[in-house]
Amino acid sequence: MYSRRFTGALSASVAITLCATAAAAEKYPPLATLPPPPIPADNPMSPEIVELGKKLFWDGRLSGNGEFGCVVCHQPDIGWGTGGPISFGYPGTQHWRNSQTVLNSAYYNKLFWEGNVTSLEAQAPAAAGGAVAGNGDGSMMEMKLRFVPEYVAEFKKIFGTEWPHMAQAWQAIAAFQRTIVTDAKKVPFDRYLAGDKKALSEPAQRGMKLYNGKAACIACHNGALASDQRYYATGVPAAKEFQEDPLHQITLRWELYQKGMSEDTYRSGADDLGLYHKTKRPEDKGKFRTPSLRELKWTAPFMHNGALASLADVVAFYDKGGGEGNKVLKPLKLSEQERADLVAFLESLSMDEPLLMKEPKLPETRTWAEFPK
Ligand code: HEC
Ligand code: HEC
Repeated sequence: MYSRRFTGALSASVAITLCATAAAAEKYPPLATLPPPPIPADNPMSPEIVELGKKLFWDGRLSGNGEFGCVVCHQPDIGWGTGGPISFGYPGTQHWRNSQTVLNSAYYNKLFWEGNVTSLEAQAPAAAGGAVAGNGDGSMMEMKLRFVPEYVAEFKKIFGTEWPHMAQAWQAIAAFQRTIVTDAKKVPFDRYLAGDKKALSEPAQRGMKLYNGKAACIACHNGALASDQRYYATGVPAAKEFQEDPLHQITLRWELYQKGMSEDTYRSGADDLGLYHKTKRPEDKGKFRTPSLRELKWTAPFMHNGALASLADVVAFYDKGGGEGNKVLKPLKLSEQERADLVAFLESLSMDEPLLMKEPKLPETRTWAEFPK
């Protein structure tokens, strides 16, 4: 219903200058196959909790208007995101950032583009309650769950309490998200690492050398997740959509206010300042979390504001040495062939097929007279 509203690709109007981190690949943790995601001791996995979490992920009752559940902005068939540059928001609002995929979010130690939340359990209420996301009230959502007899029974079985509690709902959603992860058997690069030398095409193999050498992507996109989980200002250009829609700009100002910016910044703020919102250190302005480069084939457009529509645009951005305000990149001077090889390698880090999931059947809300005695 809310699907595919902004699937139109944005041409990347990239005004750029410098770049070139000459990286000796050996200095960085090499790309590797992902292990199973870490499971916190206080939220153990079971088929029952995952199944419950899946329903709750789809369930609009965990939102203000009854239909703005997680799945609206994290749709399996568009890479578990919205497919647009900047996410739409709760009806009547627009978001200010690109909706991140939830694929492999189980592996990050900090979530969101500026890393301001530290667990999936803590992220879910922020999303369901956030004014430009689910806009739900916690106690109202809890009461809604208590009027669904099937949920009452399931929560009781899993958590042993008489009635559902929201903290349990967030645990279930987190557990479900720990199953939305890459399956290495389906990833050409991981098959290559496992010994199938034919799994990577010639261009992808050349791209891999560039990634680890001349193009130095490994300097930040390293380890099994292809992310060092640090923050850098690369100077991603503003998204056209953001410039043209006052509702996105309203959300930016509102966020600046929520995040306690100084009056000056609040009144003049025209950019997403990224990590600065969290640390308030001037040197953190414009820094964003290095995202994973797994599953890129399914998760365009790219960057915190979705300003780059394709992997070719991303590689061109790096080739020119990032954008205005970039503090870390230098021009790479890649040939056309090298840029294409790099794209081929990036694609080989994705599964052959997207991770799709069938919509679960949601149980019904009942009046108390209809409750089983
Ligand atoms: C209105 C759209 C919208 C809704 C509804 C929504 N999200 Fe999101 N989600 C986003 C956007 C946009 C971001 C990036 C926000 C940021 O960085 O500030 C995000 C980020 C995330 C992340 C972080 C991923 C990462 O790599 O750090 C997770 C996990 C997530 N959402 C899960 C959920 C869950 C669970 C729900 C339901 C309870 C939900 N979202 C509801 C739009 C939405
Ligand atoms: C200095 C660290 C650094 C280096 C080097 C680097 N990146 Fe990045 N990369 C980042 C950061 C930070 C972001 C997020 C920027 C933003 O959203 O504003 C990013 C974003 C991306 C994205 C977008 C992913 C998404 O889900 O939106 C892709 C693709 C990407 N980088 C590929 C590359 C490639 C290819 C190279 C090598 C040519 C490279 N990066 C080199 C730090 C780096």
